[in-house]
Amino acid sequence: MNRDQILKEMGLGPIWKLRQPPKKKKDAASAVAAPVDARTDTRTAAIAAMGWAELQRAVADCQACALCKTRKQAVLGVGDPDADWLFIGEGPGADEDERGEPFVGKAGQLLDNMLAAIDLKRGERVYIANAVKCRPPDNRTPEPGETAACWPFLARQIELIQPKLIVTLGKPAAQTLLQQEVKIADARGQVHDFAGMPLIVTYHPAYLLRSLLDKAKAWEDLCFMRKTMKELR
Ligand code: URA
Repeated sequence: MNRDQILKEMGLGPIWKLRQPPKKKKDAASAVAAPVDARTDTRTAAIAAMGWAELQRAVADCQACALCKTRKQAVLGVGDPDADWLFIGEGPGADEDERGEPFVGKAGQLLDNMLAAIDLKRGERVYIANAVKCRPPDNRTPEPGETAACWPFLARQIELIQPKLIVTLGKPAAQTLLQQEVKIADARGQVHDFAGMPLIVTYHPAYLLRSLLDKAKAWEDLCFMRKTMKELR
């Protein structure tokens, strides 16, 4: 598929406008600081010292919240452990719960098309994770307690990957990292800061499947991400 076909597939027109330039890059090498309260219990400390294999096992065995009772399997993430790009969604849906990989359903197909539109590919310089690793029943939004219980896993993923750019997909992921109420329409088009790493907020692909109007905005966001990454290099 060439870019025009991909954009057509996404339902996007070819015209877009870049928003304001990104803020100056900060030192991305600094350690990930927990963005919220004192999650410094022994579990958090143990997770913060894990490598990928231990993390995979800990996530698979996790019983820190009630989502473990209804999941088929926990879904850690997928991709390049040295990725430049880290995309963070909300949580696994039915397809992901079945297959053990994030974004493999319809929203995932759109995410793959979005990545392709800026010459990215799942697994190549890209890592995809979720704010929660277990499927919320009926695909409901994860509750704050569930996101908080899962936070040490995501924090460790970020720390291990040290991505050049973090992209949050949808409100729950944005709020988990920015630790504040987020309205995507207001937060997009800017470079936010997460522990010294640049972070860009955009719409969730599942939302875009329902909201054709915002697909054009998502295309603006993709262009903004690509421009931001170029300026980071
Ligand atoms: N939606 C998400 O937020 N994550 C997935 O992995 C799948 C759908």
